[in-house]
Parts: sequence; structure tokens; C-alpha cells
Amino acid sequence: MKSFVSVHDAPDIPALLHRAQHYKQHPFTTQPGHQKTLINLFFNPSLRTRLSTEKAGHQLGFQVITMDMAGGWQLEFEDGAVMNLDKAEHVREAAGVLSQYCDVLAVRAFPSLTDREADYADRIINAFREYATVPVVSLESAIRHPLQSLADCMTIAQHSQHLRTRPKVVLTWAPHPRRLPQAVANSFAEWMLAWGEVDLVIANPEGFDLAEEFRAGAQVQHNQREALRDADFVYTKNWSSYDDYGATADLSDWIVDEEKMALTNNAYFMHCLPVRRNVVVSDGVLDGGRSLVLEQAGNRVWAAQAVLEGVICDM
Ligand code: CP
Repeated sequence: MKSFVSVHDAPDIPALLHRAQHYKQHPFTTQPGHQKTLINLFFNPSLRTRLSTEKAGHQLGFQVITMDMAGGWQLEFEDGAVMNLDKAEHVREAAGVLSQYCDVLAVRAFPSLTDREADYADRIINAFREYATVPVVSLESAIRHPLQSLADCMTIAQHSQHLRTRPKVVLTWAPHPRRLPQAVANSFAEWMLAWGEVDLVIANPEGFDLAEEFRAGAQVQHNQREALRDADFVYTKNWSSYDDYGATADLSDWIVDEEKMALTNNAYFMHCLPVRRNVVVSDGVLDGGRSLVLEQAGNRVWAAQAVLEGVICDM
């Protein structure tokens, strides 16, 4: 891999999953980061992505430097901008400078949720990819979260082995008090479809269909209970509207609770975290024996190791 910003950069998903699983068993088996530097840039806060990527980098032997960009160093991304306001530096120079300080550049950014065209151009991650001279890894962009999705694939693969049929995976929208990006849902759908090992159903209210480029190939249902029937995995996530860009809805009856999980084939519950208890999911489901949320978060480390190895070794 030259860089890792979407599933399209992963030429062989089973091989990548195999490497992640290998690192779960043998975290320190190889040191491709020896005498190399990983820089992580965060344009918005993070707990899991930040710490799992730092841990992955250390375990591969990298020197790891993390810089918070939020509220600090302001970058300009517009070409031709007259930079007489608050932006201190253009991404062209910043990416060129950072490329001399590191061997892998990892970037986390969020969308505006006000300008769909700009967000779906994925300007920040693509600018770094264009102007950096080292591999770029997405730690979540405006529209995708590929490291999360790889960890989710890994989690589903591990818990599918006992199933006699192809797993039915339901990605269901759930309520949330804030407007959230579509990135996790977009990416999850994209990875499930590219992986090809599961049947994907997406359940969301009318007006909350994901962009066509991400949902094409999945079955979309607007009746959550119907969608959940016989599911083997229930992946729960809120996202704001793509059509009425950034809008949300007060639909508390879309919560995932014990009554809804009873419709499934004793499904595993998944969520990328952080999660709002008793808004998105009931305590009983989150704390129940079929909840995989902590394992998903743990698998972020091994997914990151597999990806960092992939880009530094061009595997
Ligand atoms: N799932 C996830 O990306 O979590 P953070 O926002 O804590 O990184």
C-alpha cells in the first residue's frame, strides 16, 4: 500500500485481516518502524484512534509524534487563497515540511456538515495525500473511517467462524443528540461490501440514506424491526442526513434495546464507540453477553499495526 485512506487502498482484505490477526497473537513480532518516525495529526479530539495508533506505532518500533491541530496551528487548504486572515500556513508547505520529519503521516479530520460538496471532496486527507512525499494514513476523514472498519471486519471475522451460513450484518441508524458525520457508516458499508463475506442490510429512517456510492450493493430498509430479523451482527451508529445535509432527527424509537435484539438470530451487538447509553443503545444490550464493543476497540491496535506495516513496507 502506498497510502491508506479508503478500502480502495487495500488490494487484499483477507491478507490485511490475516496480518492484523497475526499481530493480535504476536504484537512485537516485527519492527518495520525501527529508526522510522510516525507523525499523527489530529484536527479533532479522539480517544481510541489516537491511543491505539500510538500503541501500534510503538509496538512496530516507530518513534511516534502526535500533534493536536484543533485550536492551534491553522492550515489553509484553498489553492490560490490570499492568506491575510487567520491561517498561518498552506497545506502545501506543511505537508512538505512534515514529510521531512517522518516516514508515515497519519491524519484525523472531521467534516463541516454544512457544505456537502466540500466534505465529500475529502479535502484535508486528499491534500495531504497530494502534497506529502511519505505514505498517508487516514485516522478518519470527512467521509470515511477505514481503520475503524478494518477492526470491525476483524471482529466480525472472529465471531463468524461458528456460523453455518453467511452472516447477516445489519448496520442500523440510531438516535443521537448531536449532528454526527456519516464517515463510520459510509466506511463500514464500503468495507463490508468490498470484503464480500457477509450480507449487508442498512436500516435507517427515510431521509437518512447514505450516499449512493457507499450504499450501492447493500439492501436498504426503512423499517428497523424488519431489517433486524435474523441478523447475526447488529452494527449500530448514528449519522446525520446526506440528502438534507447535516440534519438530524429526534427519533428515540430507533434506539437498539433488548426487545429489538430479540428479533435477531441472537446477534452480536457492535458500535465503534464512544456511545450514548440509553439514547443509542440500552444499558442491557451494551452490558450484555453479546456486546463486542470493547473487543472492537481493542482490535483497533492490531488493525493499525497491519496498516502501518502495509504502508511502510509497501505490502
Ligand atoms: N471510534 C473512534 O474513532 O473513536 P475515537 O473518536 O475515540 O477515536
